[in-house]
Amino acid sequence: MKAKKFFAAAVIVILSTLFISACGKHEPGRADKIHVGVTYYNQSDTFLNQLIDCFKEQLDLMEKTSFEITVTIRDASGSQRTQDDQVKELIDAGCNVLCVNLVDRADPSEIIDLARDHNVPIIFFNREPVAEDMLQWDGLYYVGAYAEQPGVMQGELAADLIHSDSGIDRNKDGTIQYVILEGEPGHQDAIMRTENAVDTLKNKGIKLEKLSCGIANWNRAQAQNRMLQMISQYQDKIELVLANNDDMALGALEAYKKSNLSESALPVFFGIDGTDVGLKAVADKKLSATVYNDKEGQAQAMAELSAALVFQEGLDQIEFEKGRYIYLPYTKVIKDNVGDFLKY
Ligand code: GAL
Repeated sequence: MKAKKFFAAAVIVILSTLFISACGKHEPGRADKIHVGVTYYNQSDTFLNQLIDCFKEQLDLMEKTSFEITVTIRDASGSQRTQDDQVKELIDAGCNVLCVNLVDRADPSEIIDLARDHNVPIIFFNREPVAEDMLQWDGLYYVGAYAEQPGVMQGELAADLIHSDSGIDRNKDGTIQYVILEGEPGHQDAIMRTENAVDTLKNKGIKLEKLSCGIANWNRAQAQNRMLQMISQYQDKIELVLANNDDMALGALEAYKKSNLSESALPVFFGIDGTDVGLKAVADKKLSATVYNDKEGQAQAMAELSAALVFQEGLDQIEFEKGRYIYLPYTKVIKDNVGDFLKY
């Protein structure tokens, strides 16, 4: 009788273990290694590639000093459906923490459901989900940068330069003719960067005339095309180019190189990010300035949070805003301080 009972109990234990692993459930606090699953919106994005490289470096560093870590990275190629499938695949592969850079920041529900069903926490990064979605489950976190800062800083940098160099107003009409190169249609970061840069310039007393605005999806080649169209329409009238990121500012600069306009018709260019190419362009005086998007800080925060979530330890030592958000500050970069940011 005793043997029968023992056998029945053993079967129950084995079945429930099988059931739990078949569902990919993770027992909190029991993990002995970190398996991070990363998916990001598009591998053609320069800033994100650099951020992910920094994240891998941080994980390597942790692995050397602390525990075993594996990382699997997927490119969603601009498709939310693809990203949803990738999250499922990453969970099935045994990832015990997910880092998700959403394709569509307003459409994370399927990913959240999958993660909650399997009890795998998510660190959203760089593209912030809307606040209501972050309330869907308490295993959701966000790591990014203060969205209102870069536009304000870009506006301040441009205003300082315009105040100090009367040559920027080439036609001497007391007004700066400008164009905008914007990230993505409807993207919160892009909209805020544009609005804050323009508002700041106006608040600083600069009279502005907007000639055009082109959407270039954070992309250098697209920005070059948009800018070529603007040049053909406005010729040498453009005095200032405000780009939502460095890649687009550099694309705009390339468009001028391709055009038949002389050096003296060049406007001033401002970017955001401080990517390797962006910093070099500031050092070479091709971009007037950029605003540093602290990828190292974001990568470190993501790595530390991943470890804390997997091992269920140290979460109380992490400083969150609004309970589950980590924001890193931006920094202004001009020729004088670009050396502090360049890696030699
Ligand atoms: C921004 C960054 C852009 C682009 C975008 C993607 O923070 O400045 O260059 O990477 O994220 O969402």
